[in-house]
Amino acid sequence: MKLIDPCNRHLNYLRISITDRCNLKCIYCVPRDQIPRLTHKDILTYEEILRIVEIGVRLGITKLRVTGGEPLVRKGVYGFLQELSRIDGVADLSLTTNGLALKDNLARIKAAGINRINISLDTLDPKKFYKITGLDLFQQVWAGIELARDMGFNPIKINIVALNGINDDELQDMALLTLDHPFHIRFIEYMPIGESQMGSGPLLLAPDIKKRISELGQLIPVRNAAHDGPAQRYRLEGALGEIGFIHALSHHFCDRCNRLRLTASGSLRPCLLSDHHEDIKGPLRKGATDDELADIFFKAVQHKPSDHNLAVGNPSRVCGQMRAIGG
Ligand code: GTP
Ligand code: 5AD
Repeated sequence: MKLIDPCNRHLNYLRISITDRCNLKCIYCVPRDQIPRLTHKDILTYEEILRIVEIGVRLGITKLRVTGGEPLVRKGVYGFLQELSRIDGVADLSLTTNGLALKDNLARIKAAGINRINISLDTLDPKKFYKITGLDLFQQVWAGIELARDMGFNPIKINIVALNGINDDELQDMALLTLDHPFHIRFIEYMPIGESQMGSGPLLLAPDIKKRISELGQLIPVRNAAHDGPAQRYRLEGALGEIGFIHALSHHFCDRCNRLRLTASGSLRPCLLSDHHEDIKGPLRKGATDDELADIFFKAVQHKPSDHNLAVGNPSRVCGQMRAIGG
C-alpha cells in the first residue's frame, strides 16, 4: 500500500525536522517574544525517528530531507544521518542547513552518505547578514559553501528568502553568482507563517523577482529531474550554476505536492500551510505496532488539503512556527 491522498497525489517525500532549535535568529523566522522550546523528552529520539522513517519507506517514501530549526545543532546528528542513509529504498537523502557548522563538518556529512545540501543564505553582504540573522558570521557560512563546492557536493542549493527592503537590492548579484559557480541559487517567496519580526508591507513575489533577473539575460528553462522539489529551474546562457524560483504563494504548487513532514515533537503534518497534524510519538511510546504506526501515516495522508489557503494579501491562519516545522 502506497501513500496516495484523496487528490491522487503520491506522497514519497518526507521532511524530517530533528530539532526546533537554531543558532541564528533570522528576522523572518524568530518571533519577537520568546516561545517555549521543546525539552529533551518532548522530541523524538533518533531511534524513534528511524523506526518511523523505516515504516514510511515501506509505504513508498523514497526522498528524505533533514531539517530543523538547524539540524546540525542536534547532538549525534552525523551518526543519525549515517543510519538514515543505510535504510534500503531511500533514493535521495539531503539536508537543509543554515551553513554555520558546515566548514568543520563536511567530511562527516559526506561520510554519512550525503552528496547534496541546501543552504539558507539571504544576503552576500556581511553587514546585512548580521542584520538578518543576529550574528556576524557571513564569512563562516561562505567558507562552508566554498569548501562544499571543492569537496564535490552537487548540487549545492542556496535558498534566499526574498524580502522587500532587506535583500531586494541584491537579487541580481546573487543570480550572477551562477555564472562562475555551480550553485543553484533559489529565490523563495516569503511565507507569512507563525510569528516573526517581519512587518506587513508588500511581499516580493517570484514573478517580480524573475523579471529583475531576466534583465541579466535570457533565462533558459531546465527540465525538472525525478527528485526535484518545488523550484522552477532556469539557467543563464553559459552559466555554471542554475537559478530557481519557489512560488510558495503566488502560484501554488499544491497539485504536485508530494510532501509529508515529521516534526521533532513527533507529529506527522500533511501540509506545511495547514495546522492539521497526527500524533505519532504518543502511540509509538505506548507500544504501537508497525501496522498501527503505518495507519497513522494513512490518516495524515487522508487529511492532506487539496490546496493551501495562504494567499498574497491574506493573513496566515497557520499557528505553527516555521522553525518547528522545518520549512
Ligand atoms: P530540493 O529537493 O533540493 O528541491 O529541496 P526543497 O526545495 O524541497 O527543500 P528546501 O528545504 O530547500 O526548501 C526550499 C523552500 O521551499 C523553503 O522555503 C520551503 O519552506 C519551501 N517549501 C518546501 N516544501 C514546501 C511545501 O510543501 N509548500 C510550500 N508552500 N513551500 C515549501
Ligand atoms: N518563508 C519562506 N521560506 C522560509 N524559510 C524559513 N522561513 C521561511 C518563510 N517564512 C526557508 C529557509 C530555509 C528553508 C527550509 O525555508 O530559508 O532555507
